[in-house]
Amino acid sequence: MKILEASDYADLSRKAADILLAQLRGKPDSLLVLPTGNTPLGLFRELVRAARSGAADFARVRFVTLDEYAGIAGNDRRRLLLWLRKELLDPIGVADDSVLAFDPLADATSEVERIEAGIAEYGGVDLAVVGLGPNGHLGFNEPGSPFDSRARQVPLTPESIRSNAAYWGSEADVPATAFTLGLGTLLASRKLVLIASGAAKRDILARTIDGGISPEVPATLLRRHPDSLAIADRAALGG
Ligand code: GLP
Repeated sequence: MKILEASDYADLSRKAADILLAQLRGKPDSLLVLPTGNTPLGLFRELVRAARSGAADFARVRFVTLDEYAGIAGNDRRRLLLWLRKELLDPIGVADDSVLAFDPLADATSEVERIEAGIAEYGGVDLAVVGLGPNGHLGFNEPGSPFDSRARQVPLTPESIRSNAAYWGSEADVPATAFTLGLGTLLASRKLVLIASGAAKRDILARTIDGGISPEVPATLLRRHPDSLAIADRAALGG
């Protein structure tokens, strides 16, 4: 795993955008995985700016969603796909048929098969960008998730329910289960990029970089990936 230090959040967002835009120049029909959460918002702003200025062309890109709450309606305000649509996909003009997304109400078994089959049909994930959960989760791969796990439905840990409460109001607003791509799905992506910002991520980032490689810290999976990169700002790196 390479580590790229950014001076601050704006620099992190630019560096992540540079990598994504270089990926698209090399392969305009890339299949991308992008996270929700607060960390990627600056990256999304950079991408929207690139699309509007004509510096990037997203016409042939395809996306697969990293994670999604389960058991909510398709138009629920908490739907992570809608977050991604609002912050990125709508502003850059990506149509629905270019997005492979978990359906929150679908039967879990057939839904995860559909998503994995869709990824295989596109020829695999070219670039996955992931955020860092406060407990080291990637997507909703909670501590203990096997490194070879594939897309599946999972219960959220109390820690993730607590951290996700910040997005929706209270812990009671956070669904108890979610769909997620698996750690094995992410390991199979051609390039894997982690973005982490701020002092709140300092301890878990240190464990990700220097701690033992173990499913107990799912983000340590990056150190098993042949082409992985962590982009972190100085606050997260402890500088
Ligand atoms: C959430 C999501 C992850 C996200 C992570 C970090 O629970 N399931 O996909 O990357 O936690 O979120 P944030 O960027 O807001 O810190």
